[in-house]
Amino acid sequence: MNTVVLGLQWGDEGKGKTIDYLAHDFDVVVRYQGGHNAGHTIYFEGKKVVLHLLPSGIFSPNTISVIGNGVVVNPVQLVEEIEGIKAQGFSLEKLEISDYCPLILPVHQQLDIIFEDSRYVKIGTTRRGIGPAYEDLTGRRAVFVNDLFDKDRFYKKAKPLNDYYNQRIKTSGGEEVSIDSYIDQYMEVGKALKKYARNTVYTLNKYAREGKKMLFEGAQGVLLDINFGTYPFVTSSNPTVGGICTGTGLSHKAIGKVIGISKAYTTRVGGGPFPSELLDKTGDYLREKGNEYGATTGRPRRVGWLDLVALKYALMINGVDSIFLTKLDVLDSFDEINAVVAYKTNDGNTGEIFDPSIEYLGEVTPVLKSFQGWKQETSSVRQFGQLPQKAKDYIEFIREFTGVPIEFISVGTERYQTIKI
Ligand code: IMP
Repeated sequence: MNTVVLGLQWGDEGKGKTIDYLAHDFDVVVRYQGGHNAGHTIYFEGKKVVLHLLPSGIFSPNTISVIGNGVVVNPVQLVEEIEGIKAQGFSLEKLEISDYCPLILPVHQQLDIIFEDSRYVKIGTTRRGIGPAYEDLTGRRAVFVNDLFDKDRFYKKAKPLNDYYNQRIKTSGGEEVSIDSYIDQYMEVGKALKKYARNTVYTLNKYAREGKKMLFEGAQGVLLDINFGTYPFVTSSNPTVGGICTGTGLSHKAIGKVIGISKAYTTRVGGGPFPSELLDKTGDYLREKGNEYGATTGRPRRVGWLDLVALKYALMINGVDSIFLTKLDVLDSFDEINAVVAYKTNDGNTGEIFDPSIEYLGEVTPVLKSFQGWKQETSSVRQFGQLPQKAKDYIEFIREFTGVPIEFISVGTERYQTIKI
């Protein structure tokens, strides 16, 4: 069955490892949204590889990897990533890039920096131009991958955008970008990308007709979704299941099973409400134990307990069939573990509603349920039955509270450190 793998929290749930683990069962792995703001980390034969734009299936030699039309592409970054992976001896013969991906232009990155610096309350974007590139798509001004193959056509579309944004950049004291400074480089990388460029709407629908099994790889997480996340502290795309149809050109009939990934605790990068955040020594310990530093920006991640109210919301809006619980082993040495089971509002009411607005979520007090830690190493466990009883109790509570089965548990960075239930 075609399967979606998406993050249920604020990103960084372990999608790289999860998709790499599952990919060998699939013929096609597809990215459908986001851009090089993503950082999907895979440990392969002891080596760490971080993918930003390439689908995490590229290490399975028979898998076709597709970057769908919903992904915003910085072509320079993409070519760099392709060359880096090739230099490590991997073949990218089966890579396809939609010729309809909107491009991230140098002005977009400048705008991202200017907008972010001028905000009173920072979103904490990755400053890679993701938001401004999506803005141009909805503003009907975008320049696409297929515009890279014809210099005149590219110039005609990109020049007015460049001029327009340079006015804005100038008034903010930012660095203006001349199109002449990058057009030749863009044409060069265009040549390198041409062999991978396809009308992926047609290739993907053909694969669907042929019965090829597809894995859809979400980037970021549900709580960063532009429509359902903690707005305005969100990314500018739809990491939720709805992003698949608009980001690939496949119909809803192509979506089979949905696997949601959640850490056994919670992390967040950037600003925005985070009810279960730990700002104390326990948080510092959790950050170090979990090596919670951004794969893309290196920023320390904010950390906190597992928020089951938020998780239930994410499961609901994506119709999640099963959970892939990651980083259970990070909790191995804790005496006590907590999970959020309700929110208490300022008017004294307690409930399970996740309203993503800052006015609500920024004000609630989390109601915690406490669990005894199992104080035992789990990273060598391969079967559910061999987990310490207290770890099983914690997992069973998550299943019971959410009503969604937990199908996989990750207990380490390597592909084989995974328990299938
Ligand atoms: P942008 O996507 O760069 O516009 O950033 C918007 C928000 O999404 C910021 O809070 C980022 O930290 C967050 N974000 C974007 N991509 C990722 C990711 O891959 N993992 C975690 N957070 C992300």
